[in-house]
Amino acid sequence: MVGINAAYDNLPKSYLFSEIARRTRAFTAAHPELKVLRLGIGNTTEALPPTLIEALHHGVNLLSYRETYTGYGDEQGNSKLRKAIADSYLARNIKLDPLEVFVSDGAKSDLGNLTTIFGPGIVAVQDPVYPAYVDTTIISGRAGASFNGILEDLVYLVCNEKNGFFPSLPERADIIYLCYPNNPTGATATKEQLKTFVDFARKNKSVIIFDAAYSAFIQDTNLPRSIYEIEGADKCAIEVNSFSKSAGFTGVRLGWTVVPKTLVVDRAEPGKVNSLWNRRQTTFFNGASNIPQEGGLVVLTEQGQRECQAIIDYYLENARIIRTGLLDLGITSFGGENAPYIWMKTPYGMKSWDFFDKLLEETHVVGTPGVGFGPSGEGHFRLSAFGHRENIEAAVDSIRKNLRL
Ligand code: MLT
Repeated sequence: MVGINAAYDNLPKSYLFSEIARRTRAFTAAHPELKVLRLGIGNTTEALPPTLIEALHHGVNLLSYRETYTGYGDEQGNSKLRKAIADSYLARNIKLDPLEVFVSDGAKSDLGNLTTIFGPGIVAVQDPVYPAYVDTTIISGRAGASFNGILEDLVYLVCNEKNGFFPSLPERADIIYLCYPNNPTGATATKEQLKTFVDFARKNKSVIIFDAAYSAFIQDTNLPRSIYEIEGADKCAIEVNSFSKSAGFTGVRLGWTVVPKTLVVDRAEPGKVNSLWNRRQTTFFNGASNIPQEGGLVVLTEQGQRECQAIIDYYLENARIIRTGLLDLGITSFGGENAPYIWMKTPYGMKSWDFFDKLLEETHVVGTPGVGFGPSGEGHFRLSAFGHRENIEAAVDSIRKNLRL
């Protein structure tokens, strides 16, 4: 006899972005004549730069000849790519062994799968937060029952205007998810702020899972792009990153996770967590696709970085246009300077799903309700700067003209 994993019953009815897509589809079905402007999910829109396209073609061409054809690769990733990723940290004075780098098919799956290598423990998440951490924690059975959307065993690290969207330390937490530049608030963290969590984690033998998927958007050179810029982080932190947002690989799929050999957790000597992740990946994963890995290698060259930076600059200019538009309307908003997300307060403290409906109906703009990212997101709303310039301008224009405040 078998039952279901009952923890699934504690999940919200649908994943946040699936729910937004469902509501958007319903709106477009009811109003086929209207052009809907999508600033909801953070999905890249600009064509890949020429050098990357060439690299992907090269990846396909290699498969055309017996001499260069490859079948399964290493589950941990192409060794050249692992080395190139490790080397890319040197600019920040971070020395990684390529064996600490595990290439993946993107950050999202690793962010959820990582908790499978740890024993029972209390999970802490920022609130508001990227919903994948919470939903995977629920599925793993660590979040407990849900009461009105609050999970009884989850520690919520509140991030709000008052604390500059950087949380206070929890009383207790064993697995701590941190994301900077932050999704959804667009906030960044200083080295000093991150150090407080690194010190906490080391003292308590907790592990930090640091999501650096938006690190390429950091323009301020004083801000850390990696948790390993913080002294001691290699002893307590795993970092997950991705080519999705930095190189437009959202559909191509490629990312990586760093599991330092120096990382220690309770009753596990240095090297153990790295070897467990290796064991997990070799069992559940056959490696990232070989074609994107050829692309990834070129992303990390000087030319690749230059071309990708031009696209990041384009999205950051979109963010500036959105921020300015909201400011002109007197709407308080945050982020968008070192991140592709703008976090705004809903006018008159409206509930965020109500504002979602209002914005869609009056302006035909889709955004993401703050409460979808956690209880502290209520009364807030996220706009994404990923989009064609003309659509971003049209969205801001429509908000200016049509939003009834
Ligand atoms: C988001 O919109 O929060 C994310 O981009 C979605 C994702 O990366 O899975």
